[in-house]
Amino acid sequence: MYYPDELVEEVRAKSDIVDVISGYVRIQKKGSSYFGLCPFHNEKSPSFSVSPGKQMYYCFGCGAGGNVFTFVMNYENFTFPEAIKLLAERAGVNLPEIEYSEEIKQKENKRAKLLEINKEAAKYFYYQLRCDKGAAGYRYLSKRELSDETIKKFGLGFANKTSDDLTRYLKKKGYSDELLKEAGLASFEERFGMHDKFWNRVMFPIQDINHRVIGFGGRVMGDGTPKYLNSPETPVFDKSRNLYGLNFARTARKNNMILCEGYMDVIAMHQAGFDQATASLGTAFTPGQANLLRRYTEEVLLAYDSDGAGVKAALRAIAILKESGLTGKVIDLTPYKDPDEFIKNLGKEAFQERIDHAENSFFFEIRILERDFQMDDPESKTKFHREIAKRLCGFTEEVERENYIGAIAEKYHIGFENLRKLVVSYAAKTGLAKPVERPKSGIQKKNTPEDNAKKVQRLFITWITDEPSLYQKVEKYISAQDFTEDLYREVADKLFCSLREGGYNPAAIISSFEGEEEQREAAALFNTKLEAIETKQDREKAFHDILYAVKKNSYDYYSKRMGTDVEALNKVIEGKKALEELSKTHISID
Ligand code: UTP
Ligand code: MN
Repeated sequence: MYYPDELVEEVRAKSDIVDVISGYVRIQKKGSSYFGLCPFHNEKSPSFSVSPGKQMYYCFGCGAGGNVFTFVMNYENFTFPEAIKLLAERAGVNLPEIEYSEEIKQKENKRAKLLEINKEAAKYFYYQLRCDKGAAGYRYLSKRELSDETIKKFGLGFANKTSDDLTRYLKKKGYSDELLKEAGLASFEERFGMHDKFWNRVMFPIQDINHRVIGFGGRVMGDGTPKYLNSPETPVFDKSRNLYGLNFARTARKNNMILCEGYMDVIAMHQAGFDQATASLGTAFTPGQANLLRRYTEEVLLAYDSDGAGVKAALRAIAILKESGLTGKVIDLTPYKDPDEFIKNLGKEAFQERIDHAENSFFFEIRILERDFQMDDPESKTKFHREIAKRLCGFTEEVERENYIGAIAEKYHIGFENLRKLVVSYAAKTGLAKPVERPKSGIQKKNTPEDNAKKVQRLFITWITDEPSLYQKVEKYISAQDFTEDLYREVADKLFCSLREGGYNPAAIISSFEGEEEQREAAALFNTKLEAIETKQDREKAFHDILYAVKKNSYDYYSKRMGTDVEALNKVIEGKKALEELSKTHISID
């Protein structure tokens, strides 16, 4: 951690998790917790819970979980120092200048410096656009029908013809050659020395979701190549995890997002009022970007170029959207090439109409597929139908599959039963597609003995956090040593310590882990779903069984290690005794 533990804890304690999360997600009280739709995955019924008692959130659907810090980090895409800054400001806590470890200091410093120099460069380009030297750039943008307001909103600028003036400007401000090169703003060549990367181009600053400039795209004003020159990837510019325009689109509050290919397309759409438009950054759409979109919407409308390359890219994007559980639809832009040209020619009402009639992505895929077959040739036509059947097998849910079979049968004049038979025979040969495994899924399907052992340990920790008074009753049977996963043992140790010494505070335990993955796992430990058990008697039996199972697992674990571990023998003797005693003991729950 970068700040003293007490300070981190002060900020956390003053940032009530229900208050903070309500600022981002609509949550409603249900019993002792609050529930809402999870912002970290796509869902239709709420499985995202926020517990005021534990000061934690946890999603039973995707396993996302943590305390108020991890929430802000994940939601805002912040580092820990950024998250604590935001929360400290909100809670009115002063953060001192702190002592970083050397490595972290360097990393944070580098990021901060890169953001700073990008911001300076953006300001410089912005200013240049308004100078005499920038007149050509301004004319170009006007010719493309961008209003002053739009130019300002997107912070567009101009890199003039002088090949080293940005470099000189930034160096005068005290930035080093190294940093200029690392930010991708300048490079060094024997013959010219240090010179600007962007030269005689209109400049599009690329911002992250918090409006910070992380890179640039620069467009030639005529037909030169490359058409767009982009900043290279840097520690602050990850092209696979950012989207152009998302800083505005994420607050658009439309029930969809539009994904397109070009900077100009995003800008044109925003100018026409479609402020839910975003684009990838000169590279193909990635799963990381799909996850980003999933925070804000369930439905993504593709407005890719209508040419061959655009269609190909759209097909790839559809597959990625599907993988992330997003609904994809395709906006038909014909007869125009891209959204910018469409809107210029037909206007925003016509574009809205195309949005309203966006095509189901499966229909789109089949329509594109059809181009490869000749419908007047029975053999080719049959192949086409087989290919359709194969793709229909991709729908794992029966109702959905049946609906699609019906719709496609009608659309392509295939007998419903015939198509259905074809699907069934195809599925019999190859099996239906498996549902996509969510990488973060907290719900384990397969139950190996190892999974079960972990599960009871999680159940035990959750139960104790829900009813901390129980700890006293079981203290003599169980210790942190009985938890056989490293992380579980660490959490148990901290939890039991705080229960013995007072100051029970599970949310603080999460902060003590640095890695995001560890924090998530720790949160899962405190939030394992306990079955609702009706009677007190059954509850007591369940608790006893869980305790016994944890102890038994520990006993087995150390029994196997007796040969190699001197401590193990003691644990085995102690475990045997505890198990015997436990099997005769009743533990009452009040
Ligand atoms: P397009 O060639 O479709 O350009 O590239 P565009 O967005 O329609 O731009 P205008 O209307 O001609 O000005 C789409 C996107 O691909 C990336 C850029 O992100 C661009 O917005 N691209 C394109 C590059 O990075 N480099 C290039 O040379 C061309
Ligand atoms: Mn264009």
